[in-house]
Amino acid sequence: MTEAILLVGGKGTRLRPLTVNTPKPMVPAAGVPFLTHQLARARAAGVDHIVLATSYLAEVFEPYFGDGSALGLHIEYVTEEEPLGTGGAIRNVASRLHSAPDEPVLIFNGDILTGLDIGALVRTHEESGADVSLHLTKVDDPRAFGLVPTDATGRVTAFLEKPGTPEEIVTDQINAGAYVFRRSVIDTIPTGRPVSVERETFPGLLSSGAHLQGMVDSTYWLDLGTPQAFVRGSADLVLGRAPSPAVPGRCGDSLVLPSASVAPDAKLTGGTVVGEGARIGEGARVTGSTILSGAVVGPGAVITDSLIGEGARVGARAALSDAVIGDGAQVGADNELRDGARVWCDAVLPSGAVRFSSDQ
Ligand code: GTP
Repeated sequence: MTEAILLVGGKGTRLRPLTVNTPKPMVPAAGVPFLTHQLARARAAGVDHIVLATSYLAEVFEPYFGDGSALGLHIEYVTEEEPLGTGGAIRNVASRLHSAPDEPVLIFNGDILTGLDIGALVRTHEESGADVSLHLTKVDDPRAFGLVPTDATGRVTAFLEKPGTPEEIVTDQINAGAYVFRRSVIDTIPTGRPVSVERETFPGLLSSGAHLQGMVDSTYWLDLGTPQAFVRGSADLVLGRAPSPAVPGRCGDSLVLPSASVAPDAKLTGGTVVGEGARIGEGARVTGSTILSGAVVGPGAVITDSLIGEGARVGARAALSDAVIGDGAQVGADNELRDGARVWCDAVLPSGAVRFSSDQ
């Protein structure tokens, strides 16, 4: 059995307003807090002890997951008074680990949806004898990411900042946010100050001659840091494209939680999820979208690739595409919102207030 640290303390600024009331790992994806999928996947890979490194809105995790026994896990919680960054957070929970100095400890970013073969990453780590092993994924457009080139044996040769010119794109491999650390390496991270594992710990280890091993796994991978990605990830879980043992129902075109109500002629497609107590009105069409608990979608509304927050209301015939509606917001009838529009929590948009077309 292995133990794992989950980093769940970030502010999730890119995901606002979804993260105004809820930390990113607790925003529901496919009907359950996103973190549930990661915990269930770790459990399925043989992890039994998990330490959650919390900071932002730390108080909401323990009431929901408790001691973890419902998931077959033993979960502990460690809260940073001041955020310590990804490396500082790892160091800060070291006293809770049971592993011996040479044993492997798994570490996961709390916002990655992936089909990574966790067992294979641990095996790679043990067979290569590395100090740290990293899951790497290949992306079509590496310009937005720090790059992690490796040699023919998979050993990491550099950690490069986001490439500025085409010549700097020396690989399409990026850090995918899952690591195995030799336990004793965690103890070398400085205490009591913020440390970034990506910007400080990894480059520092490399320049001091440590062995960092990369494992390229090109299975499903998505960073749920932005609203567009979050909605996509939730839909992929519902559709069964992203693997998780924690989807509460059968995978298919849509997932409707038991206490939700959907008008008989409403159409739900593309991995749409309708949360507890939410209501979808007559003739509404909802595609690839996440409707959180208690939200109401009015008759004839057309919602595409969007997220409707808890208890929010979308009026009749409103047309939303690639939009995020914060918790408790009210979008009046006949509004058109698209292209990354974010309506803040509890905001009120009168009927027909925002249009992209010229008709009334
Ligand atoms: P943005 O503000 O939108 O960039 O999101 P974020 O705050 O989550 O930052 P980022 O996506 O870079 O974080 C990667 C992972 O590390 C996420 O799972 C975060 O929850 C976690 N994380 C980031 N900073 C901290 C921190 O200071 N403490 C802890 N415990 N976790 C952190």
